[in-house]
Amino acid sequence: MAGESAAGELGVPAGVPERREYLFKVLVIGELGVGKTSIIKRYVHQLFSQHYRATIGVDFALKVINWDGKTLVRLQLWDIAGQERFGNMTRVYYKEAVGAFVVFDVTRASTFDAITKWKSDLDSKVFLPSGGPIPAILLANKCDQKKENSMQSPSQMDHFCKENGFVAWFETSAKDNVNIDDAARCLVENILQNSKDFPVEENDVSSVQLEREPLTAESKSLCC
Ligand code: GTP
Ligand code: MG
Repeated sequence: MAGESAAGELGVPAGVPERREYLFKVLVIGELGVGKTSIIKRYVHQLFSQHYRATIGVDFALKVINWDGKTLVRLQLWDIAGQERFGNMTRVYYKEAVGAFVVFDVTRASTFDAITKWKSDLDSKVFLPSGGPIPAILLANKCDQKKENSMQSPSQMDHFCKENGFVAWFETSAKDNVNIDDAARCLVENILQNSKDFPVEENDVSSVQLEREPLTAESKSLCC
């Protein structure tokens, strides 16, 4: 590449601050109808629809985050159908993921009860290079519909997260756009921390430093 020098592996000329680009595979899992697709649509496209159309298998979306002046993060979001918990494909879908959102619906207790099953499925099928679990964030979605006592107290939720190995939890609403950006920022912080502890390998497809290229679209969709 023209301008390549000894200053940087990415071909950054001396004196120009090195820019890092990452691609992270992030899973979004949880029971049927909890709002996984809606959260992704809100986060990536700033859209919300009341209309429910169940995801079949898996869908994908890409969110590009200008993390700081020198870091670009591409989040490849894997929107896994709730019905997949009863199928055999999660092992394939989880492969090489570096982070996860596990979602429940605050208006349906049964979806919270299923969280431990999703989390143990996750932790038994995908690992960090250290062998530890990938960072997972618990999302209590549809908080716009929350009724009194419909959810555990914040301290109970903190305790639940500690017990079950979640790095954090957030009340979210895809409808009213509550806390989705904050939850994503928290997950990316954790993933970046892990990628410092375990520098990515050149051919690692889930978490790679990409060639330098101009910043373009804010976000776009991938097709499967
Ligand atoms: P599967 O693909 O079947 O696993 O479901 P999903 O988790 O992707 O759920 P989806 O995003 O399709 O949402 C299911 C229904 O909940 C839809 O009718 C959405 O409009 C609604 N919904 C999702 N998020 C919210 C929210 O934050 N608040 C409210 N009030 N409704 C929501
Ligand atoms: Mg869906």
